[in-house]
Amino acid sequence: MIQVTYLQPDGRSHTVEAQAGKSLMATAVAHNIPGIDADCGGECICATCHVHIDMPWRERLAPAEEAERWTLELAVEPHPDTSRLSCQIRVDDSMHGLVVRLPPSQRYALTRPPTPPLGASDESSRFGLPHDRA
Ligand code: FES
Repeated sequence: MIQVTYLQPDGRSHTVEAQAGKSLMATAVAHNIPGIDADCGGECICATCHVHIDMPWRERLAPAEEAERWTLELAVEPHPDTSRLSCQIRVDDSMHGLVVRLPPSQRYALTRPPTPPLGASDESSRFGLPHDRA
């Protein structure tokens, strides 16, 4: 059994059973942990699964790959020493007891594109293109 604790900014904690092979994001979503929005579903493009992982756990995890480091720049107030994207961390047996801190704010750092007007093409709305270029 692998137990992971998600610590809220207000001090509340949620300790859940995690399944090896699933991401920390998927584990949080499966247990309805507040503060993990995961808007992109784990595609490493939204940063709404941003978490903080402190030492000594931080050094035990595989380091963030380039795509994760880039996407972390979209997170609200990322910290260079503790920030990670929970969708990019796969749970394994060595993570029993891991503590994950949730940031105070979990929302888009960038402005979402406006809702397309009625009649806009599906492609323009799907890719967020300006409507006059559709
Ligand atoms: Fe979108 Fe992790 S769920 S970057």
